[in-house]
Amino acid sequence: ATLTVDASPQLARKIPDTLFGIFFEEINHAGAGGIWAELVSNRGFEAGGLHTPSNIDPWSIIGDDSSIYVETDRTSCFSRNIIALRMEVLCDNCPTGGVGIYNPGFWGMNIEDGKAYNLVMYVKSPETTDLIVSLTSSDGLQNLASATITVSGESNWTKVEQKLVAKGTNRTSRLQITTNKKGVVWFDQVSLMPEDTYKGHGFRTELISMILDLKPRFLRFPGGCFVEGEWLRNAFRWRESIGPWEERPGHFGDVWHYWTDDGLGYYEFLQLAEDLDAEPIWVFNNGVSHNDEVDTAAIAPFVKDVLDSIEFARGSANSTWGSVRAAMGHPEPFPVKYVAIGNEDCGKKFYRGNYLKFYNAIRQAYPDIQMISNCDGSSTPLDHPADLYDFHVYTDSKTLFNMKSTFDRTSRSGPKAFVSEYAVWRGDAGRGSLLASLAEAAFLTGLEKNSDIVYMASYAPLFVNNNDQTWNPDAIVFNSWQHYGTPSYWMQTLFRESSGAMLHPTTISSSYSGSLAASAITWQDSENSFLRVKVINFGSDAVTLTISTTGLQASINALGSTATVLTSANVMDENSFSNPTKVVPVKSDMSNAAEQMQVTLAPHSFSSFDLALA
Ligand code: AHR
Repeated sequence: ATLTVDASPQLARKIPDTLFGIFFEEINHAGAGGIWAELVSNRGFEAGGLHTPSNIDPWSIIGDDSSIYVETDRTSCFSRNIIALRMEVLCDNCPTGGVGIYNPGFWGMNIEDGKAYNLVMYVKSPETTDLIVSLTSSDGLQNLASATITVSGESNWTKVEQKLVAKGTNRTSRLQITTNKKGVVWFDQVSLMPEDTYKGHGFRTELISMILDLKPRFLRFPGGCFVEGEWLRNAFRWRESIGPWEERPGHFGDVWHYWTDDGLGYYEFLQLAEDLDAEPIWVFNNGVSHNDEVDTAAIAPFVKDVLDSIEFARGSANSTWGSVRAAMGHPEPFPVKYVAIGNEDCGKKFYRGNYLKFYNAIRQAYPDIQMISNCDGSSTPLDHPADLYDFHVYTDSKTLFNMKSTFDRTSRSGPKAFVSEYAVWRGDAGRGSLLASLAEAAFLTGLEKNSDIVYMASYAPLFVNNNDQTWNPDAIVFNSWQHYGTPSYWMQTLFRESSGAMLHPTTISSSYSGSLAASAITWQDSENSFLRVKVINFGSDAVTLTISTTGLQASINALGSTATVLTSANVMDENSFSNPTKVVPVKSDMSNAAEQMQVTLAPHSFSSFDLALA
């Protein structure tokens, strides 16, 4: 088999700087109990709903009916999240250790020896009371850190702040608040954050470094179906997710079935994009959910709401909403240049009508903002104006492998494609198999080749907390303290240098061509230039391949050339917590790198040859 690479400058084409990025959705507890480092779940006791009594899950009670009575009431000092917890201690001689409440976080808190955790909570206690706050094992027996807080009796709410330094490690810890004193105490907005978060911005450092290793050029957020909701009343609302964390009402994401306190809100997403040096892509609700819709005749307030959201991001610190951002600590605007008008709503009754209202208003107020339609323009032209259109694909591996040529047939005029969700799923995806990653890699070579009309692409979903895998597979799997990348994650690392690189035409001639896919780029790191040839062998035979490069303006140097191969003994192999690196790219030096060279492609493999240019 022969792979010809024509590297002549006149046939090279620059790949958009934006081509490969990430799509973050609040799904699988990716944010709450995920990259957002808050350890307390349901910190304001609002998750059970605003009626009383309300379910306080996952908070639980320490003590029995004779020693403690706990209920919710509507006496919070925070008007937008009015539920508070009222705890009445009934015992005169309380059990050793006291009675109280505990929160296990999201399937247990990861508390690590020597690390500091900042507790903030609001307390009201008519009588002076000693509260013991502690971090313990899940059964309460191992004490990792504790402090006694004396709350002086008064009828107002008091903000309490306490640093706890752990003197041991426990991956499934809980936060306890106990007392021995008879009387009544109210609690609200109880937060426990690790002191050490990425750039001090509240994100789990090790999960952010997984994203950084992808060098994403954009961050699409916050969903997905999460943006739409099953019902509009449960859709993500940016306005409710900004400002002081204590004053955010939180909401129940009814598509993925869990509560989020919205600590990871609109502002934090913009901050994350900045921290990643990625373009923020704000996907907003356009008045359409899975089950209900706002009639276009009544959409004006929703349009105004979105214009406000853009002002929040881009407005000067003196503007109405820019000043709110500035008060949150970011006087400089966040440069939002892309917005998506809804998610997967093209077929809905009011989508087009609503779309045009949003489109026209945003175009008028912010002529430079690129707008993304939900309607697929890859096979038929759109019937409405758009700068980009969304393209989502979840399918089996064979179909996705063959979809590498999907955009070959797309018209070169009109808006560009944003392949904002792609993945192999169901049947042969496993829980993130090598096979899935090979099909996805082949599909991405097709996107590189069609990057004159494919402007952006991102895998979905990005993250899964292993305790709540609503969607399978995902790129990065984690629990309270461990994480690993699936082969689909590692596959993406071999495309991270493609954005902004020069693409060169490739031709495969082989009896195996039906199971091979390839692309070639030139790219530079800080010191050297490389011709990168990527080849996917989707078949079960090893293939001897001659790679023949013509038209190069430089010569290929074996010194400094490498081959990186993603493969495994079995095509359905996966990574896991017990074997997180079973299927990862393996890099080796290439002593035979040259304009004409022969390589062996292992069965079911993805090879990336970086040929050093001298
Ligand atoms: O990525 C998971 C879901 O798939 C997204 O929420 C939605 O956009 C798509 O249907």
